Amino acid sequence: MGESIINILIFTGAGISADSGIPTFRDSNGLWENHKVEDVASPQGFERDPNLVWNFYKQRFNNVQNCEPNASHYAVTKLQKWCEDNGHACHIITQNIDNLHERSGSQNVMHIHGTITAFNCNNKWSCGFKTSENLYEQYAEDLIPECPKCGQYMRPSVVWFGEQLAINFDTITTLAEQCDVCIIIGTSAQVQPAASIPVHASYNNAKIFEFNLDQAFHLMDNRKYSFQAGKACETLPRFVEEFINKEKYK
Ligand code: OAD
Ligand code: ZN
Repeated sequence: MGESIINILIFTGAGISADSGIPTFRDSNGLWENHKVEDVASPQGFERDPNLVWNFYKQRFNNVQNCEPNASHYAVTKLQKWCEDNGHACHIITQNIDNLHERSGSQNVMHIHGTITAFNCNNKWSCGFKTSENLYEQYAEDLIPECPKCGQYMRPSVVWFGEQLAINFDTITTLAEQCDVCIIIGTSAQVQPAASIPVHASYNNAKIFEFNLDQAFHLMDNRKYSFQAGKACETLPRFVEEFINKEKYK
């Protein structure tokens, strides 16, 4: 047993947090809570009205804090822990800016669209100050937290439209190309790099498992691709149990 190391990549989107009560982007009109995307998720929107943006993310943060991780977050954690205990590799990449993976106990989660629980100086290039201190507590209408180094406004460390991913694209595709098992949960794959993850994983002949309400990936080689329809909080825990048992006793 345990002769070969399994390299697992788990890639998640808004669908994994839907079962915790956090609205997804494209399924509901909860999208951007009736704001225009460019007002609350672009550098230009922040320049125009930083109060609106701070209010928006403070509300989203409060909403996240009022939600709990669900069975699929815990299933991801269980699989990661099993990998760790058995000498396998497991990387978790999420597009989500919430902290539910961490709160379910997952480690080293890569947030490619940033995170709502960290902040950086808006003067990203010449200052670069960052903090994980909860600045929403300091924020009050017209009292936007300022950078202790340079005095510019601070902002949530989330990736906005027109900005670079928080994790290098090559790092992500390399992880996909190195995995043997690629587990994709709750993403519509409408934006990159989500759309190309299975393509890169298939270069390595990885087995790809998609968990989603509706299948997002098509034209996959069916021998290497499996789609599990339904709520991730129901389908994923079952899958993880089966995966662990099968691998343990094979
Ligand atoms: P989307 O809202 O585009 O897609 C959510 C996916 O989750 C859809 O495929 C749903 O069918 C699926 N889904 C919904 N409920 C589910 C459940 N209970 N179990 C399993 N699947 C479920 O969200 P993302 O693909 O994550 O970027 O969106 C990607 C990016 O687009 C976001 O990170 C955001 C947005 O622009 C930024 O903000 C930079
Ligand atoms: Zn600064």
